[in-house]
Amino acid sequence: MKVSVIGCGYLGAVHAAAMAELGHEVVGIDVDQRKIDALAAGKAPFFEPGLPEILTSASASGRLTFSTDPAAAADATVHFIAVGTPQKPGSYSADMTYVDAAVDGLLPYLKDGDLVVGKSTVPVGTAARLAEKVKSAVPGADLAWNPEFLREGFAVKDTISPDRLVYGVSSDPAIAAASQAVLDEVYAKALSEDTPLVVTDYATAELVKVSANAFLATKISFINAIAEIADVTGANVTELADAIGFDARIGRRFLNAGIGFGGGCLPKDIRAFGARAEELGRGESLAFLKEVDSINLRRRQHVVDLTVDLLGGQAYNKRVAVLGLAFKPDSDDIRDSPALDIAVQLNGLGALVTATDPEAIGNAQAKHPQLHFVESIAEAVQGADIVLLLTEWKQYRGILPADIDGLVAGKTIVDGRNVLDSATWREAGWNYRAMGRP
Ligand code: UGA
Repeated sequence: MKVSVIGCGYLGAVHAAAMAELGHEVVGIDVDQRKIDALAAGKAPFFEPGLPEILTSASASGRLTFSTDPAAAADATVHFIAVGTPQKPGSYSADMTYVDAAVDGLLPYLKDGDLVVGKSTVPVGTAARLAEKVKSAVPGADLAWNPEFLREGFAVKDTISPDRLVYGVSSDPAIAAASQAVLDEVYAKALSEDTPLVVTDYATAELVKVSANAFLATKISFINAIAEIADVTGANVTELADAIGFDARIGRRFLNAGIGFGGGCLPKDIRAFGARAEELGRGESLAFLKEVDSINLRRRQHVVDLTVDLLGGQAYNKRVAVLGLAFKPDSDDIRDSPALDIAVQLNGLGALVTATDPEAIGNAQAKHPQLHFVESIAEAVQGADIVLLLTEWKQYRGILPADIDGLVAGKTIVDGRNVLDSATWREAGWNYRAMGRP
């Protein structure tokens, strides 16, 4: 199929490359010239395992091109909208500027028979509104909503082999059938592998996406709330999560207590969902998401307070080593990263923060040049009064006391992700502190 992907950020760049990898002829379109130049040269503009490989192979096949010109979409018949919906400044709502601009920019190039496919995470009601826009500009074109569930770090696999597909289609059965036929062809490979498919209306498709993220955020804040109780009772939240996780109705995944969730999705999506519920006169239905958010933000404060405490009540002029800046491992994304937030807060309290991360230093440095960034664990912990493990990269999960014993000034470590073996560190003479674990 001839496909255009409008928006080449974390979602769109991966989607464009994956669609080409699946055999479609794809043009990726973005207003950011730098991003387009990098992608056209086969370079991923951000760190995502597997993306450089499929960018190279798709570009070599001639099936993947990039452009900053919306007119490049004119040849395509399927148009994915994959632009961002960040939090609107001064509000909890989603900023829809980019989605509207993408659709408006596409309208002059749409033809009868074309299908516009929304992938961005949007407030419920958006698809119906955009469908009107498309229909009034080109009556023979249509719109479907096809939310994306990819996780950064696994984005290529999640796009090529998703765990489910959701199509939100028109309420007109004939139009709906035509849209489904197009999407079935786009996703022929996944469907041939028996990927579950839910075909539904626009509102349900939009709500599936935000409900999934709200549920995941709630699961993480639930276990973090239990971690707070574990901290005052001497219980072990990791063993507790293992035990409740054996109940298949609960499940063990996304029950890792720590410094909380961040990134470009969960935090802003729960806020936008709550804001939309208020607009719909149903604010009370999602009021619990405010609590989910508060529990999450409290985790960062807890680590800052604990660190100051362990430093004797004063962070000023103390050397703090920070291992991990990305919002999660296998990503260079620092959007709303709890790790970076903690580093910045401690810096603000006068601590001398030296931070490292395998991939996120460039992004972190551009945003917070006041922190001191180094490439290795050894440089980060050199002379440190305290070590904070804040993003559970594989290389940090594997550190042993003997690796850093001789480098630090003080043997105190805060394991913000509960990934180290407490006994090993204590036996080596360290003051080891974790999240909801004795
Ligand atoms: C999330 C969803 O998991 C995807 O399904 C969704 O498609 C995506 O948002 C999106 O809306 O685009 P992602 O932002 O890549 O994906 O990150 P997650 O893997 O969900 O992790 C989010 C945060 O939760 C990270 O900061 C992670 O460290 C934290 N987390 C995760 C925990 O603190 N504990 C856990 O047990 C799991």
